[in-house]
Amino acid sequence: MSTYLRCNDVKSNYYDEKEVTLRGWIHRIRKQKEITFVLLRDDRGGVIQFTIPTKKAIDLTIESCIQISGNVKKDARAPEGGYEIRGKDLKIFGTAPADYPIGEYQSQDLLLDYRHLAVRTRRMSTIAKIRASILKFSRQWFIENDWLEINAPVIVKDAVEGGSSLFEIKYFDRIAFLSQSAQLYLEAMVFALGPVWSITESFRAERSRTVRHLAEFTHLEAEAPWMYQEELMKVQENLVSFIIQNTLTNNSPDFEFLNRNVKELSSISPPFERMSYGKAVDILRSRDFTVLCGDGAHRKIEWGDDLNIESERELTKDCVKPLFVYEFPIDTKPFYVREDPTKSEISLSTDLLAPRGFGEISSGSERESDVESIEKRIEKQSLDPKAYGWYLDLRRYGSVPHSGFGLGMDRLVRWILGMEDIKDVVLFPRTMSRVTP
Ligand code: 4AD
Ligand code: MG
Repeated sequence: MSTYLRCNDVKSNYYDEKEVTLRGWIHRIRKQKEITFVLLRDDRGGVIQFTIPTKKAIDLTIESCIQISGNVKKDARAPEGGYEIRGKDLKIFGTAPADYPIGEYQSQDLLLDYRHLAVRTRRMSTIAKIRASILKFSRQWFIENDWLEINAPVIVKDAVEGGSSLFEIKYFDRIAFLSQSAQLYLEAMVFALGPVWSITESFRAERSRTVRHLAEFTHLEAEAPWMYQEELMKVQENLVSFIIQNTLTNNSPDFEFLNRNVKELSSISPPFERMSYGKAVDILRSRDFTVLCGDGAHRKIEWGDDLNIESERELTKDCVKPLFVYEFPIDTKPFYVREDPTKSEISLSTDLLAPRGFGEISSGSERESDVESIEKRIEKQSLDPKAYGWYLDLRRYGSVPHSGFGLGMDRLVRWILGMEDIKDVVLFPRTMSRVTP
């Protein structure tokens, strides 16, 4: 790979009238009798128009990969920035047949069927660039704050988030599962490395077709010793604010391209809003908010019910900043969540809800340290106690008070981009109905 210019590099007075060579794909093409107008798209989604005598453009088709040399010309009529290239020499690296399956207006399903090609659309590549920044600034925050990054296995024997959403796999002549969360491994590493974090794919065999569930998602998780609930929230609000402010600065033209109004995002800074679960239920009850029961009927929400997406939407529809909900009933939370020693049935846990109804983006908690209590809850949640022997050892050998959280990166990107469907922010989404491309 030699260093080479991209389309936006040459749109400047400096390059005006100079000869340049650009590489890319044919994004659009309009052939006239003498002259052909081509919109070239480079390998970062930038575009520039070039012209070429039509007799030299016979073989050019949409998505053919080419190299073009010619002189840059400042011309106010040129689309996409007022510069174009008067093409002279053309080299074709890869010719595309004329039946390119993706046109200008396509159904969502077709775009998903052809996702391997649709990733070239400027919309998809812009989303991917913003996502890359979100990942980069996440990592930067942890590095700057002295957390160590670790890698955790995704082939596991234990459920973290309940047995019903486990993907079972054949592991030689045994059964294993795809990991729902790296948390238990992060917990183990807290004893060896202090504050640790990881970014791992997590898997949930959830039979729900919603705009915020994937079967495979990118999970940022963090765990630290001697961290309690208040600090747990501070870490998350600092991290999320840092990611957002840096991404807005770094990718401003990308947000503009996607027509994402970032006014509210630009005001996101610590502290976030905080509300107890009890207060949330009181508010929802005062608005006669109902939940669906097992028999299909609706009844008014009660203390003890989990917050569903509708309730999260109701609580945050007028919020500009994210909202931490804390003090969930212990029975709504997994076995590892610590019960508040001063308030029976209350857990030391927090869910972070993105504003404007985007819903839960992270869950965190202090971790239970009492072996017996964890064992009881593992059984109550119908999990296999044998799988957790190693996890309980962590409590037996020098347990330390610790806390952690998991942030769904796809959900974070969805909210930052203000997009309805989570599939739009993932390159190759995995859902109940889709495992290819
Ligand atoms: O709330 P969850 O299930 O919590 C955990 O997995 C903890 N073990 C994390 C931890 O403390 N280390 O998942 C954490 C986040 C959710 O808030 C959500 O953002 C995301 O992961 N998430 C999903 N994202 C997309 N599709 C799904 N099916 C998701 N399930 C969870
Ligand atoms: Mg959760």
